[in-house]
Amino acid sequence: MGKKAKRALREVPFKVTNPERIPAKRYYDEGFFELEKEHLWPHVWQMACRLEEIPEVGDWVEYKNLDKSVIVVNSKKGIRAFHNACRHRGVQLASGHGSCKTQGFICPFHGWRWNSEGENTFVFGRQIFSEENLDQAELNLVPCRVELWGGCAFINHDNDAPPLIDCIKPATECLDPRNVDKLKVEWWVSSVLPTNWKLAMEAFMEGYHVMRTHPQLHSIPLPGMSSRYGPDAGNTFPPTRAFNKSTDIVDVSIKYMEVLSDGMGGMVHANDIAVAESMRDIELPEDPKEAFNQFFFKLNHEITTRARAKGIDMPDLNDLAMNKPAPPVQFMFPHYFLLPQYGNMSSYRIRPLTPETCLFELWSLVLYPEDEKRPRPVAPVPGRHDNPEYPEIPKQDYSNLPLQQLGLHATGFEYMRLSKDIEGMISNYQRTVDGFLEGRSNEELVKAQQISSSGLDVPIQDIGF
Ligand code: FES
Ligand SMILES: [Fe+2]
Repeated sequence: MGKKAKRALREVPFKVTNPERIPAKRYYDEGFFELEKEHLWPHVWQMACRLEEIPEVGDWVEYKNLDKSVIVVNSKKGIRAFHNACRHRGVQLASGHGSCKTQGFICPFHGWRWNSEGENTFVFGRQIFSEENLDQAELNLVPCRVELWGGCAFINHDNDAPPLIDCIKPATECLDPRNVDKLKVEWWVSSVLPTNWKLAMEAFMEGYHVMRTHPQLHSIPLPGMSSRYGPDAGNTFPPTRAFNKSTDIVDVSIKYMEVLSDGMGGMVHANDIAVAESMRDIELPEDPKEAFNQFFFKLNHEITTRARAKGIDMPDLNDLAMNKPAPPVQFMFPHYFLLPQYGNMSSYRIRPLTPETCLFELWSLVLYPEDEKRPRPVAPVPGRHDNPEYPEIPKQDYSNLPLQQLGLHATGFEYMRLSKDIEGMISNYQRTVDGFLEGRSNEELVKAQQISSSGLDVPIQDIGF
């Protein structure tokens, strides 16, 4: 047991005591939000920026969450991060993004300066300060822990936190073979949602909502698709015998790809659909299930081969499908997740703003030819969550969330009731949050974070406490 485990644990209000029931007040109580601010966020790895936001030496970007701001810099000595406060009287030094290559960071108040390594290079009127206040080590910017994975810089305010990879391991094992570090931004949008940050995360932790929230996905009958929902599933999943010819299989498969692509933007790319379209005349076996499997085997092969011919470092999609299958959504505790499809991915990051609002970002990430120069992505201005321009699928998800946030306040609604088989991720996640709030040991928290950094539709699991 670690040192922390021997100490008495802190009391947590609205703690999850029954793993199948999540108290509603966790999503709006101000005191609970303050506890997260103090005991969760400063101790977890947070995805602070994509490395392509700071491609050149000197490039920097600010990462803000709640009351803390960190500058992530591409310095001469590699990627560094610094707490965003002048060493004189605390003014924030940087906001947004920029380059410190020529001038470094200059405090707007009295003009003290730092270079990209965070070393103080100038104090105006040094002679008016005592020696004690001019100690060079103390004048340098305070470093923040930063570690890299998946084409991103992650920061952690806790110098005793376990390494990033230990905390999100299942994600790295699943996504590294998919060349996640080589993905580049195709587009990036953000919105402010009138929703607690955990509620927003949880909207993506189960596929149970697809039937009602995304009927366009649920109603396409894919052969051999088993459903876990018992007899109810038959209404919208016609049995395999509905397919008469192998051409039906090709039609329905391409239709499904189109619905995903139109609905999600980045998830299935137009390039992948173009490859599928060019395969309409291929020979397939009579048996619909066999035909379906063969179609996707050939599609994976074609996407891989054609991408490689263009100079894209595309992994072998069939090899991955057989040997390292990925869940449709891969979470990284606490606020980042990726949805891998055909070598591309959608990517989401959620940050709390207030107990009942959050900043919700969505990226389309694509593997481009190795020599293709991509523009430096810049954080978008957050738009309305009900922007009619958004792709269909997130728009449908966003439409439920504000209603859920309101419903949680209803008299008599004390807790959510979860499916133990399908909505377990929500429970695993919430109990991991409790582990941070009550001050559990690093060993316990690493195990819980690994279990919570999994895919969707997982059962309630023993997270170790
Ligand atoms: S507060 Fe920054 S130089 Fe004075
Ligand atoms: Fe959804």
